[in-house]
Amino acid sequence: MSAVVIYESMFGATRMVAEALARGIGRHTDVTVVNVNTVGHEFPVADLVLVGAPTHVHGLSSPTTRDQAVIWTKDPARKLTLEPEAPGSGVREWLEGLTSRPGDFVAFDTRADTAELLTGSAAKHIQKALKKAGGHAQSEHESFLVHDNSLDSSELERAEALGERLWTEQLSAARS
Ligand SMILES: Cc1cc2nc3c(=O)[nH]c(=O)nc-3n(C[C@H](O)[C@H](O)[C@H](O)COP(=O)(O)O)c2cc1C
Repeated sequence: MSAVVIYESMFGATRMVAEALARGIGRHTDVTVVNVNTVGHEFPVADLVLVGAPTHVHGLSSPTTRDQAVIWTKDPARKLTLEPEAPGSGVREWLEGLTSRPGDFVAFDTRADTAELLTGSAAKHIQKALKKAGGHAQSEHESFLVHDNSLDSSELERAEALGERLWTEQLSAARS
């Protein structure tokens, strides 16, 4: 059995969440972490696929918001570093270009630390799109919170624990 974690990230927070989720899953099975730019158009063949992105303008990033993020990294006051793999497309474009039916998945995102009603959620959009394409949400979408675009370390611990729990649940569902 195996799992895949797909992520998009401009400043590193969503990548770190993806890696933490994979650490949790990796206690039990093989897991691959991949940037969305390198996935290709087919939904990965795996027992569980986690898909995550940063929340931009209440939803998924677009070329405009990614350009804005690049501009932010050029402002020293913001203390943000552009992820080496960030240039390119994002989860929005990947979802739009999918050529195969999704399987079991869980959507996640990073977003500001306030009510989802105010911040919006990229994960909510991912979940909706994958369900519409025929995928099965193994669990409700999950958000990890940033302050000034940086994650609290407790969020990474939470992501690791969630990864392990999601895999354990997936295993029991497969056995029943
Ligand atoms: C152009 C832009 C728009 C954003 N809009 C939102 C938003 O609507 N809601 C929110 O919670 N966070 C918003 N953010 C903050 C991002 O969610 C935050 O930068 C992201 O979680 C960091 O993840 P990353 O390091 O993986 O890029 C925005 C960030 C950028 C660059």
